[in-house]
Amino acid sequence: MALLEVDDLSVTFARRGQRTVHAVDGVSFSVDAGEVVGLVGESGCGKSVTSLAIMGLLPRQPGLRVGGRAVFDGTDLLQLDDRSRRDIRGRDVAMIFQDPLSSLNPVIPIGLQVTEVLTRHRGMKGEAAQKEAADLLDRVGIPDPRRRLKEYPHQLSGGMRQRALIAMAVACQPRLLIADEPTTALDVTIQAQILELLKELVRDSGTALVMITHDLGVVAGMCDTINVLYAGRVVETARRRPLFREPRHPYTVGLLGSVPRLDAGRGERLNPIPGSVRDVLAWPDGCAFAPRCTRRIDECVGAPPELTLTYDGRSYRCVNPPPVPGTPPPAATDAGAPEPATGGPVPAPREEEKP
Ligand SMILES: Nc1ncnc2c1ncn2[C@@H]1O[C@H](COP(=O)(O)OP(=O)(O)OP(=O)(O)O)[C@@H](O)[C@H]1O
Ligand code: SF4
Ligand SMILES: [Mg+2]
Repeated sequence: MALLEVDDLSVTFARRGQRTVHAVDGVSFSVDAGEVVGLVGESGCGKSVTSLAIMGLLPRQPGLRVGGRAVFDGTDLLQLDDRSRRDIRGRDVAMIFQDPLSSLNPVIPIGLQVTEVLTRHRGMKGEAAQKEAADLLDRVGIPDPRRRLKEYPHQLSGGMRQRALIAMAVACQPRLLIADEPTTALDVTIQAQILELLKELVRDSGTALVMITHDLGVVAGMCDTINVLYAGRVVETARRRPLFREPRHPYTVGLLGSVPRLDAGRGERLNPIPGSVRDVLAWPDGCAFAPRCTRRIDECVGAPPELTLTYDGRSYRCVNPPPVPGTPPPAATDAGAPEPATGGPVPAPREEEKP
């Protein structure tokens, strides 16, 4: 069994007088020790809500419903009481948050926050802890670390706060680390340094890393397995190489087509996906990607596409996937082979009942 098994996770936000938001809808994935698993998708597709739900850190608000399981080393994290959850969070599971200010204590110097982690998790004290803390800040690219240890979070830039948070997460040597956009706010040289540090953690401590990002360059350089999220659902899961070589979901194809490539020919254009992530308030019947999909056919409307598992262990949710290069076209039936959609009516969104 994998170190973390997320099974049919769902998160809905029901608000009085408003429609229900299905932020996460039946997400399943797993992570082994020493493995890097990516959660990838455009803004608003449910990456942060997925990770916060696993960590038990969603804001407690009326109408919040969390379903499914997130089993870490045999324990369902979603069933823990607050105390056990705090214990496991400090000891075994750590998270790097997308918003660093919310997770650093504003009235405690950075140094004390890092050394506290070192004392609690690695029994280090005094000068040894100070030295290790300075070393960690140095490794995440914070200049003059001894001085910075004495400073408060508000005295650091946003990028430095993010790096201090990464230093604290690495200091724990957790068995599972969830990193939510850890390098988005950083410049490329620092980004490379941080990614190297995370790779070291995985290699040397066997940490299982869930890497949340919308940066396909980071995915290509880091992840062993990738889950592509769209509107709260995993639409494709594959190992890195097959995903980049032969994406099976049109959304993945669109994501890959919208980033620049070094091997692109002169004059070759980027192909951004038209439209934006569907508003999850207006949840359609059928495939949520249909309104933006150039391969849409009649079968895409009605019910969400079932999961297709392939012989090489990948999976996707699409009734009309792009052909794998070298695969002959399917034989035409009486009704003729399906034509890719070129427009046509977009399925009407299903209105949720008001609570
Ligand atoms: N507390 C909340 N109450 C209601 N809706 C929420 C809440 N938190 C998130 N959502 C909604 O859930 C959906 C998923 O949000 P989430 O923050 O997970 O996106 P994301 O994939 O992390 O995006 P980004 O790349 O911008 O960080 C969004 O539509 C968001 O508006
Ligand atoms: S072909 Fe159909 S099922 Fe596949 S992504 Fe497009 S709309 Fe969805
Ligand atoms: Mg997010």
